[in-house]
Amino acid sequence: MRRPFIAGNWKMNLDRAAVVELAKALAEKAASFADVEIAVFPPSVYIDAVREAAAGTPLGYGAQNFYHEANGAFTGEISAAMLLDLGCDYVILGHSERRHILGETDADVNKKVHAALAAGLVPIVCVGELLSEREAGQTNEVIRAQFDGSLAGLSAEQMTGVVIAYEPVWAIGTGRVATPEQAEEVHRELRKLLTDRYNGHVAESVRIQYGGSVKASNAAELLAKENVDGALVGGASLKADEFLGIVAAAHR
Ligand code: 13P
Repeated sequence: MRRPFIAGNWKMNLDRAAVVELAKALAEKAASFADVEIAVFPPSVYIDAVREAAAGTPLGYGAQNFYHEANGAFTGEISAAMLLDLGCDYVILGHSERRHILGETDADVNKKVHAALAAGLVPIVCVGELLSEREAGQTNEVIRAQFDGSLAGLSAEQMTGVVIAYEPVWAIGTGRVATPEQAEEVHRELRKLLTDRYNGHVAESVRIQYGGSVKASNAAELLAKENVDGALVGGASLKADEFLGIVAAAHR
């Protein structure tokens, strides 16, 4: 049984006061949903504030990115050790905004995945096609290339420590959510890739989240799909009630 995992990617939003208020509201309720893994991803400068609010509660947290080198002259970057120092358990890698706005390649993501696992951080590795790619019938091809490139060189054991997030780029921040069938089709393809590249045990263990315009009102039908093991939520994770509504939809 894969434990459902609901993650809130706060992106470059909120200020310190709003972060504290939101994290406290979520931390207070997290224990009521013990069967659901819940984590939030604040802007890095506010991770410490979330750490304080989440202390002693099951609310997990992590970073939206980091740099794969251990330390040194990398102005503006943050290392895995620094994230561990702040108590992070997770890091989001290869988000489409980092791929398409900030120019991250599969090779960059792959270095980060290896560094995250070596440090003991759980990477949430994002994959997803552009609208033009979907319309050209290239969805599976794009997903396969991102999977093979971003996850290259991992042992089967390392792979079981990775979470995959399928985030179709056309569904992110657009209000245009993938249908449960569209999501399930790609999740099934990812599960098949895990079997082909690794084995059945890995395929059964790895959690695959869906991301892209997930809200409390559409979460249940997405999460009901056999291969949808959770959600990576953007906009709807900025409001406690809305995010908790998604968590409740994952709660059995
Ligand atoms: P939205 O939920 O705002 O569409 O964002 C999804 C996302 O990119 C989460 O990482």
